[in-house]
Amino acid sequence: MTLNGWHGDGCAEADAQGLRSERILPRPTPIGVALVGCGYWGPNLARNMAEIPEFRLHALCDSDSGPLRQIAGKHPNARTIVDFDEVLADDAIEAVVIATPPTTHAPLAERALLAGKHVLVEKPLATSLADGVKVAELAMTTGLTLMPGHTFVYSPAVNMVRKLIEEEVIGDIHFITSSRLNLGKYQRDGVVCDLAPHDLSILLYWLKEHVVEISATGSCVFWEGVPETAFVTLTFASGTTANVQLSWLAPRKVRQMIAVGSRRMVQYDDTAADEPVRVYDRGMDVASPSNFGEHQLIYRAGDVVIPRVEAHEPLRLELLDFAHAIRTGREPRSNVALGLEIVAAVEAAGISMQLNGAPQACVQPVEPAAA
Ligand SMILES: NC(=O)c1ccc[n+]([C@@H]2O[C@H](COP(=O)([O-])OP(=O)(O)OC[C@H]3O[C@@H](n4cnc5c(N)ncnc54)[C@H](O)[C@@H]3O)[C@@H](O)[C@H]2O)c1
Repeated sequence: MTLNGWHGDGCAEADAQGLRSERILPRPTPIGVALVGCGYWGPNLARNMAEIPEFRLHALCDSDSGPLRQIAGKHPNARTIVDFDEVLADDAIEAVVIATPPTTHAPLAERALLAGKHVLVEKPLATSLADGVKVAELAMTTGLTLMPGHTFVYSPAVNMVRKLIEEEVIGDIHFITSSRLNLGKYQRDGVVCDLAPHDLSILLYWLKEHVVEISATGSCVFWEGVPETAFVTLTFASGTTANVQLSWLAPRKVRQMIAVGSRRMVQYDDTAADEPVRVYDRGMDVASPSNFGEHQLIYRAGDVVIPRVEAHEPLRLELLDFAHAIRTGREPRSNVALGLEIVAAVEAAGISMQLNGAPQACVQPVEPAAA
């Protein structure tokens, strides 16, 4: 299988903030789209699709009529559908956006592609690499757009940090720590499947290199086999490491990542709406030895810079990129190769957890893109 690497296609790189779709000429007729899965996250997708001129929200589908009734009042012009087969049979629906539980992602995406629909499927793309590859290959064969919904790669704050890394403001990245905690919604797939795709997408997008090894431990307080807390350690190809804490069992929401580099340290706090990124000119430098063998560490405590970050809703930018990918056939920023690498890493983390944290080599579903 050949898939384009996600490290940076010309299209995605054209506008680091993901705004290029707003600049392209409008299509004469908007893309007829259906939302499948109208639970917690679906209404956010529906709201954005209703606001974006590139789309016409044609239908809302949920196998449970309860959430369907709740969302229908907000979108009175959209058809409400309980049976997914009716979505597939409706020729006015050119694209589907799937926001159902993770185990349903690959099967629903596969059926939609077979019915000739473009697909945006929420993260993770699949719950096993084998399923992910199957649906990715189907998208390639049909020539339809398949896009996993890794929303954070559209976050202006995440893109600001990526820019700081690219411009070598941070220097060589020694390690990154991440905490993604809150009193979360329990899901049968466990906290790693739910939250780790966010950290993985950000880390892969920042570092532009593959994860080579992953180890994970977790704890199940309530249900055996459903960890609600996990500690994940990742090693990237260059040796950079990252440690990610994930939990649905925390007293308050924490969404913080810190990258420690040879020049500076950067903190990204997704809960700090106005000032999500802080760059610290702090660290330690090794002073030249005055005597043979005598090394000294000099502490550096310089300024803190808070770069201005535009306030754009990442989900809107993601959906604009989906529309752009459908129209042009080009790879979206959140593309299949990124989705597959994340599925592979989540799968390896699950195996590691079952083996009490034994490190697992990560399968690389794609070759790195040429620089
Ligand atoms: N990108 C993000 O930041 C973000 C945030 C939250 C959730 N999500 C993702 O969104 C997805 C949904 O999460 P949620 O919290 O909204 O879950 P949820 O359980 O609240 O909602 C899922 C809905 O899908 C419906 N459903 C299940 N199977 C179906 C089928 N075969 N056909 C039609 N409808 C079906 C359910 O009835 C339910 O209403 C998950 O994949 C999750 O990872 C993404």
